[in-house]
Amino acid sequence: MTEPRARSFGAVAEDYERGRPGWPDRVAGVAGLPPDAEVLDLAAGTGKLTRLLVSHFARVVAVEPDDALRVLIRDAETLAGTAEEIPLPDGSVDGVFCAEAFHWFDAPRAVAEIARVLRPGGSVVVCFNDGAGETEPRWPDEARAVIERHRPPGEVGGRHLVEAGTWRDGFAEGPFEPLRFETAPHEHVQNTEEAIAQILSISGFALLSETEREEMRAELRMVLPRQTWRTPLQAEIWSTRRRD
Ligand SMILES: C[S@@+](CC[C@H](N)C(=O)[O-])C[C@H]1O[C@@H](n2cnc3c(N)ncnc32)[C@H](O)[C@@H]1O
Repeated sequence: MTEPRARSFGAVAEDYERGRPGWPDRVAGVAGLPPDAEVLDLAAGTGKLTRLLVSHFARVVAVEPDDALRVLIRDAETLAGTAEEIPLPDGSVDGVFCAEAFHWFDAPRAVAEIARVLRPGGSVVVCFNDGAGETEPRWPDEARAVIERHRPPGEVGGRHLVEAGTWRDGFAEGPFEPLRFETAPHEHVQNTEEAIAQILSISGFALLSETEREEMRAELRMVLPRQTWRTPLQAEIWSTRRRD
């Protein structure tokens, strides 16, 4: 993990857990793995995908390098580790799932490690959340102004890395079938504190000082009404299988 933004989330673990969206059922189902499957949630964060996987599969191991995030994972085995050095034996899982994280990895090394820990015929699922429309009701301009005022110069978040797609290149080299792509709609329903937490958990704002983050939180609280916010999302789901 050489990119500072890749390591930014631990400092905002509670905001991350409170504010970030979860994942639709389709992420767990896309690979067609049976209920007795043993799967890995790679870069599990606070366990937002882990908890979905636990409800579908017999054994889920969550690997996450950041201690502050990993301690928030419940109901699954957890291990400290990275995508480039997965702390599992060769051929030990039926599926590897990775949510909102592959763009931070050294992709060729991560793909080689995923191929190593998967059993022949095992599945890989890589997913990202993207906005699929405006939040309802629309965020007031005053709140948008607060965000822009605190945005670090040049900050573009991790989304451009997802869209650049270079993270996919490693799969073409490895022992994998061609990647398949589909989307699954879902909705993120938040109260105002959760919506503020989500903004503060975005990688660029996560790198601000604690003082500036708390200033930003206070300013957002002043301009945002207390209510329910509904944001349409689509999960972008990439999947493949390790050849036998
Ligand atoms: C945006 S969070 C996603 C967390 C979780 N999968 C989710 O869906 O909420 C990105 C995660 O990738 C982890 N991460 C960053 N670089 C990593 C690497 N090289 N290997 C493993 N995890 C990494 C971070 O610690 C963080 O937990």
